[in-house]
Amino acid sequence: MLEKKNKYVVAVVGATGAVGREMVSILDERNFPISDLVLLASERSEGERIEFRGKNLPARKLAKDSFKGVDIALFSAGSERSLKFAPVAVAAGAVVIDNSSAFRMDPQVPLVVPEINAHSLEKHAGIIANPNCSTIGLLMALKPIHDAAKVKRVVVTTFQSVSGTGKEAIDELASQTVALLNFKDIETKVYPHQIAFNCLPHIDGFLENGYTREEMKMVNETRKIMEDDTIRLTATAVRVPVFRCHAESVNIETGTKLGANEARAVLSKFPGVIVYDDPSRNLYPLQLDVSGKDEVYVGRIREDETVPNGLNIWIVSDNLRKGAALNAVQIAEHLIK
Ligand code: A2P
Repeated sequence: MLEKKNKYVVAVVGATGAVGREMVSILDERNFPISDLVLLASERSEGERIEFRGKNLPARKLAKDSFKGVDIALFSAGSERSLKFAPVAVAAGAVVIDNSSAFRMDPQVPLVVPEINAHSLEKHAGIIANPNCSTIGLLMALKPIHDAAKVKRVVVTTFQSVSGTGKEAIDELASQTVALLNFKDIETKVYPHQIAFNCLPHIDGFLENGYTREEMKMVNETRKIMEDDTIRLTATAVRVPVFRCHAESVNIETGTKLGANEARAVLSKFPGVIVYDDPSRNLYPLQLDVSGKDEVYVGRIREDETVPNGLNIWIVSDNLRKGAALNAVQIAEHLIK
């Protein structure tokens, strides 16, 4: 458990990555009480400087002795690093908030979206998991609908930006776009196919059942966070040539009838959700507009006319903020309350 202090020593593991950099800036923006910020990355980035509260702090190489004196460690450097170093950080006395999928389904590890299940933070053994970016955006909209009308079945298709893969993927979309517009050959390193001007129905590895890991993360994490194993969810996860923000087209069947206006009302009241839905003025959430925003935006709210109790909605959330770094910092804020 975290000892209460006025200020904390915080480590960011993967500080030079797409999510890690966002963690550093969100800690600053939200005035997280920090006495010392330890920035950790691979040896490739040793000495690279990252600005925090007016100082240029050096990135250090992640090692077994990196966590001496650290109170809270935010991990976003991939599952392999989390599996190896999160237990080391916990043994050194830190509480770990892990953005990888390494520990999410471990029954000892709370999987937390603070607006939904902050109560599960009361019991942890040193590691707390941050959910998958698409799951967080989806559940922020599903929770108020579930509370109002009990969600029975969900069919979701995602439109996920390349920043969800990391900084190399951001570079790949940019460089392929530049190459193609200059009639040059493209290089494909991160994705199995061209991502510029293309959509790939493939995120993370394929499993025996024909689904991808990303799709099954949404199924399993939804049940754990909503604490309801009866919710049936099926997903298709698609990578789209967008730099930032994930969009999701979601069809929901509920136990009792929830009209479109009632859905708008319950969604509007939920903390962290903004209903942005005025087709008469062409207003609906767009990935470009939601980029950099903390809230999850919901629009295109309408009844599914093919079933008695159904809704269709369109969700957009910033995958680097609420989908990753912001949610992790919100968990840390709960821990120090
Ligand atoms: P580095 O920049 O030195 O490679 P992204 O998700 O944007 O690709 O970022 C991944 C983050 O994880 C980066 O900060 C990266 O550091 C870090 N990382 C990757 N491999 C290692 C490793 N072996 N040890 C420590 N940090 C790592």
